[in-house]
Amino acid sequence: MRFVTIKELDARNLGPIQGPTATLIYDDWYPALRTGTLRPGKLATAMLLDIPLVLGRRTDGRVFAMRDSCPHRGIPLSYGWFDGNRVTCRYHGWEFEPCGGQCELIPSLTSHDHLDATRIFATAFPCEERDGHAWVFVPSPGSGKRSPGAQPRPVPELAKFGPRYRTAFLTADLPCNVDHGIIGLMDPAHGPFVHQAWWWRSHASIREKTKRFEPIPEGFRMSAHAPSGNSAPYKLLGVYGQPIETTIDFTLPNRRTEIIRCGDKWFSSLTTITPVTSSTCRIDVIAAWNVFYHVPFVTPIAKFFGARFVRQDQVTMIQQAEGLRHNPSLMLIDDADKPAKWYFALKQARLDSTQGAAQKHPMDGPVELHWRS
Ligand code: FES
Ligand SMILES: [Fe+2]
Repeated sequence: MRFVTIKELDARNLGPIQGPTATLIYDDWYPALRTGTLRPGKLATAMLLDIPLVLGRRTDGRVFAMRDSCPHRGIPLSYGWFDGNRVTCRYHGWEFEPCGGQCELIPSLTSHDHLDATRIFATAFPCEERDGHAWVFVPSPGSGKRSPGAQPRPVPELAKFGPRYRTAFLTADLPCNVDHGIIGLMDPAHGPFVHQAWWWRSHASIREKTKRFEPIPEGFRMSAHAPSGNSAPYKLLGVYGQPIETTIDFTLPNRRTEIIRCGDKWFSSLTTITPVTSSTCRIDVIAAWNVFYHVPFVTPIAKFFGARFVRQDQVTMIQQAEGLRHNPSLMLIDDADKPAKWYFALKQARLDSTQGAAQKHPMDGPVELHWRS
């Protein structure tokens, strides 16, 4: 499912979106595009952390991501050809193996030349397919494939608790920088205002909540709890008559995972806010569940409501972008904005650690937060 794109927003809005930029976290995995969009022998493009990418799938099934730029004269490689094994630049026909980036042929060379084409490399990024996302490892600029000292990190993957499940995917471009996207994602207080709907909850259902949080590596967890009784999807799960437990994690650089379990029924989602450029981002939601596995139409209905939900966030962020253009001063309040404060502190610690500092966690133990939502 696809929403308005940044380009369409630009065209519709009052000039280009020029909100404040954010510092980006490199040396980690980000989803570039859905692998279902990769067609045999075709190249696709994506933008990730201000880097133009060209992606494709080799005949042997492997996905690849290269910088969309020929190392010879910089023309985007996506204008060239791809036969399923090699990417050919459309300017002078240099041919590249796309997973490693190695140049395998320079057509203009003669027996008089001593240049060894295979010593030339286009930039190829580590690229792995999980849950239908092409995940790309983005090293810091100018550092080759991985910055010296950067930790190897596992490719993110949606948690699943059995072999049979249904899945859904949603995406939306957001006209704000990744920091605003992330704090919007974790913001507990906007629910009753942005997401009011008869099937979800109403403004009037607002009530005081107490939630326990605990530190986890590079993130924090809203500890397992029985979900709030005032939202419809959880009421629906109640039909199974078993205790429902939900755990929500946020981890750097940009991931929110939510796991709901009710006996042997489960729902799992992974939401990421990915910097497209330093001033815009994109939300991607992948979900899997075995609840209501045999009930017809659950997937289209879930997609419809999920889409409404993401759309409500997107509309709010489009409106917010209008205000952010003028660089207003902003505030973070206790306790409702505490997760946002932890995010900024975790991010700063990660950035400092790339300069050799020890990575300090902003929380020193479990805490309870209180807010009304
Ligand atoms: S610019 Fe690509 S081969 Fe010359
Ligand atoms: Fe929201």
